[in-house]
Order: sequence, then C-alpha cells, then structure tokens
Amino acid sequence: MDKFLIKGGKALRGRVAVSGAKNSALPVMAAALLTAEKVTLHNIPKVRDLITMSKLLAFMDARVSVAEVPASDYVIEAPRLNHTEAPYELVKTMRASILTLGPLMARVGVARVSLPGGCAIGARPVDLHLKALEQMGAEIVTSHGYIEARAPKSGRLKGAHIVFEKITVTGTENILMAAAMADGETILENAAREPEVTDLVALLRKMGAQICGDGTATLRIRGVAELHGTEHTVIPDRIEAGTFLVAGAITGGDLTIANCAPEHLGAVIAKLEQAGVAIEIVDKSTIRVRGAKRLVGSDMTTEEYPGFATDMQAQYMALATQAEGTSVISEKIFENRFLHASEMMRMGANISIDGHTAVVHGPARLSGTTVQASDLRASAGLVLAGLVASGETLIERVYHIDRGYEGIVEKLRGVGAEIERIHGTA
Ligand code: EPZ
Repeated sequence: MDKFLIKGGKALRGRVAVSGAKNSALPVMAAALLTAEKVTLHNIPKVRDLITMSKLLAFMDARVSVAEVPASDYVIEAPRLNHTEAPYELVKTMRASILTLGPLMARVGVARVSLPGGCAIGARPVDLHLKALEQMGAEIVTSHGYIEARAPKSGRLKGAHIVFEKITVTGTENILMAAAMADGETILENAAREPEVTDLVALLRKMGAQICGDGTATLRIRGVAELHGTEHTVIPDRIEAGTFLVAGAITGGDLTIANCAPEHLGAVIAKLEQAGVAIEIVDKSTIRVRGAKRLVGSDMTTEEYPGFATDMQAQYMALATQAEGTSVISEKIFENRFLHASEMMRMGANISIDGHTAVVHGPARLSGTTVQASDLRASAGLVLAGLVASGETLIERVYHIDRGYEGIVEKLRGVGAEIERIHGTA
C-alpha cells in the first residue's frame, strides 16, 4: 500500500487548479442508466471511486467509453440493462454504488443492490432511501446482504409525497432519479440542498426531466415517460477547494485556487475568515488565500449545506491545532468522524474528544511521525497536519485519499510542498 512522505514547514505559494466534484460525478454517472441514449460527461475527477462506478455501470451492460484511464471525459450508453445488479465485490469498495438503485428502479423496475456496509465514520444506513422507494410503490426485501427491489405490477413507480426524517444527500439523489420517470408527481420534503444535488438536477433537466425547487428543501418532480441523452460538465469539487484553502492558511502561504466555485464555499470561507485567514474571491472561479500571521481559535459545528460541510471537519481540525485559544468542533452529521484526532494528537496536537465534540487547544507545535489514514477526509486532515509539522510525516494507507483527490501529491508539489508518494509493495 502506498504512503505519503511529507517534510513539513514549507509555505505553499502559487496556483492550484481544482478538479471536478467526486460527489457530483457519482450520481451523474449513475443517472446515465436512466436513458438508452448517449450521455457525455466532462470534468470527471481522475479518482478511484469513478473508476469503480464505471466498472459497476459496465457490469450492468452499460457501455462506458473513456479516452484514457483514469479519464475526465466519459461517454456512457445503456441501450439495455440485462444485469440490474450491483454486486457486493464492487459495492464494498464504494458505498455510493447505492446510487444505481434509483435509476434501475426508474428504468427497468427491478434492482438487486448489495447493502453498502458501514465505514470508518459511521453505520451509514440506507433505510431512508428504501422507505421512500416503498412509498413510491416499490416492493423491497433485504436478505443475504442484498436489497431486492421491484416496481409495482405496472412496471413503473408512482409519484408520492415523501418527507425525509433526516436530510440525506444520496437519499435525495436516489429519489430524484427514481421520480424522474415515475407515474405522476413526487414531492420530496426535507431534501438535501448540496450543490452536488443541484448539479444532478441540472443534468436530469437536460435529459428531459421536469423538476423544480432545486437548491431548496422541497423538490417537485413530475415523472416523464422517458429521458434522452445529453452532455454535461460536472461542477468543481468544493471539498478539494476547501482543503487547499486550509493548506494555504495552515502553512502561512499565498495560494490561488482556480477552477473552483466560491459560491459553494460560503460557510467554509466565513469560518476561515473568523479564524483570521485572509481570503479574497478573485472572480467566479478563483479564490486567493493568504496564511494568517495569527490564527484565532473558533468554534465550528458541521451541518448540512449551506452549513459547514462535515467533509471539511478534519481539515478544519488541523487548522484549529495551530490557532491561538480553543476551538470547539461539533460533528453533527456522522457518529464517528474524529478518527483523525488521535493521529493528530500523536503529532503533538492538544485535542480532547467527548462524543460528538472535540475541543482543540492551540497553538500546538506538531512534529512529524508515522500516522494512519482511516477514511478519505481524515487523510486530508493528516496531510495538512504534515504540511505544518516539523520534520517528516509518513502517512500510511493513502488509498483512502486516492478515492477523492485527483493528483494531490502533484498539485501540492506544484505549490512548493515537500511531499512524495512511496509506492507500497504489499
Ligand atoms: C454523502 O454521503 C457524501 N457522499 C459524503 O461524502 C458526505 O459526507 C455526506 O453526504 C454528508 O454530506 C456522496 O455524496 C457520495 P447522508 P451520504 O445520507 O449520502 C444518516 C466523502 O468524504 N442517514 O447525507 O451517504 C447518515 O447515517 C463522503 O466524499 C440515515 O440515517 O450521507 C448520516 O448520519 C463521506 N439513513 C446522515 O443521515 C439513510 O437512509 C447524513 O447522511 C441515509 C442517511
């Protein structure tokens, strides 16, 4: 398994370009199952999860053509789907495989999808996805680790009035895709408002879907008989952009972040400015961040969009270790998303955890050592801690970070970081 070796202490300077959003590319690729026609997608990030998604679509007999592997442009055609199954072997490596459930139910009316297990950050149930599909007339049985779903006798799901008990991003995306070709209107209340959900709505509309309310908590979808092919460019990755914002801040550097969407980063920018970071929105796709002379501890609570993203919590914790004073971090979305804290403590951070709350006292001098990555965003937090730590930090199990950050070593080296990938033998 590969490792990253980082020699900390360098201020990052220069320009770094953000890739397409992994969490938009995943539902958008799954949506290609909704039509027999060609769907061409651009700005897909070259990360492992999208290779897994393309394997999954190919398993279902969709034709996935790419100019190169890994690719940023995909052409997906699903003229017929003989294999309406998402097997455990693929789902276990990527929970987002659950996003094929909605499109399969809409297009074919039958699906067999492996239950995605939990992961390091939590149990990650999909009960809300299933309850909503049942409200739309699906018959669902879960047995032997699989979800067996079947549309009503008519073959089509029925529009329904669904109120999600909790805000769920992929749950909202699954129901959007299921409702796009259901019989009648679906009203989805307490829907997720993440930019990735809005990007999926944009794609579905281009395919002929009738949807309104995107960006709000209530979505209305009027089902249509069929959807057609289209072309779509995926939005920039706001979490990658946010990660680079923290990288510029924590190293006291001066970074220009290009190809991003500042309007998706409102809560993150506000919180970093509150901590003393100088941020300038240069234009609609560029942000400049300059490290603060003095970082000030600031409390932060993760919330659904437009609140501070849980996917930025580990990165913020790394910054908080360098801020003067106390930062109380509350993780409201997932039950076990502080795994990075213990590794940062081994580097010298002063953090105490009590359930969903982490109290960070700073500034703490971090010193490099060997640390373990546990999940995608925890790995990003450890990279940031390594960039500011004295000496060398060796991060193990970096396959986690390769799932969601395209070329992170090259991008960081391009702005002055001393980081290299050590290819594992095992
Ligand atoms: C999406 O996961 C993202 N993944 C996650 O990003 C992100 O952390 C999360 O949304 C929250 O923003 C993708 O988009 C592929 P949820 P998702 O359903 O949809 C509970 C990353 O690092 N819940 O919004 O799985 C759930 O347990 C990943 O890129 C139920 O109880 O998250 C959690 O506590 C990590 N029942 C809360 O809701 C359900 O049926 C939010 O989960 C569904 C969810």
